[in-house]
Amino acid sequence: MGNVTVAVRGLSKHYGGVTALSNVNLDIVEGEVLALVGDNGAGKSTLVKLLSGVEQPSAGAVAIGGERVTLHSAHDARRRGIETVHQSLALAPNVAVWGNVFLGREVVICGWRNSLRWVGWLNRGEMRRTTLEQLSDLHVTVPGVNAPVKVLSGGQRQAAAVARGAAWAMRLLILDEPTAALGPEQQRQIVELIRRIRDRGMTVLLVSHSIRQVMDVADRIAVLRRGELTAVVQATNTTEEEVIGFITGTRRQESNGAA
Ligand SMILES: Nc1ncnc2c1ncn2[C@@H]1O[C@H](COP(=O)(O)OP(=O)(O)O)[C@@H](O)[C@H]1O
Ligand SMILES: [Mg+2]
Repeated sequence: MGNVTVAVRGLSKHYGGVTALSNVNLDIVEGEVLALVGDNGAGKSTLVKLLSGVEQPSAGAVAIGGERVTLHSAHDARRRGIETVHQSLALAPNVAVWGNVFLGREVVICGWRNSLRWVGWLNRGEMRRTTLEQLSDLHVTVPGVNAPVKVLSGGQRQAAAVARGAAWAMRLLILDEPTAALGPEQQRQIVELIRRIRDRGMTVLLVSHSIRQVMDVADRIAVLRRGELTAVVQATNTTEEEVIGFITGTRRQESNGAA
């Protein structure tokens, strides 16, 4: 196994009397696609929220690059190299593709204007160029980087969101159900995109309900059941049937390779 980039230790999350996540230990290894599967309510999105700084754990810790960290906010997680594409896409429909890629991270040029005032303005050319580069690098086709996101198809939007995440993720890209709302062909394209991202060395945590897709693209598969991590398997050493067994609880892994 390679280097552990993000380590989860004893992570729990309670919402009042509900235990959404219970004592989860999981190593995310540099350069892998780690799939996270489980039934509705198993705790997948809760783990995603804890790793992306959106929510704070009730107990346990996260270590990034061997250093124990507290992720106070989504901004904090991003600063530490963790980018998340949440299931509900956060793209601004009326903003151009390039504007979405740089949303909240605008490239600003500063200078003296009329020798009187120190001003900053947006370097639109630079942001357009970079967006075009990043998208074509990942073979993502959109009507144009100047087109507003609302004219993109569902698949193009999702691809743009994933590419944006990949462009900013320094350490880990988390994708929560990136293909849930897509047709088969668009799903295939997103899977191809995930492969390309992995081939460039990025680590991906992929939450998916599609076992077939997970078997197709993931290096390892982690299974959550009722808030507990019940199995971690190599994709090449398992079958769809076995993974479904772990998800439904008809199979158990005695000692999981989680951590
Ligand atoms: N904000 C919340 N308040 C109360 N319960 C929650 C909250 N978020 C999640 N839960 C509960 O925690 C459990 C895990 O939810 P979630 O992580 O969304 O599961 P999954 O993404 O695997 O479908 C569920 O029982 C869900 O109802
Ligand atoms: Mg979810």
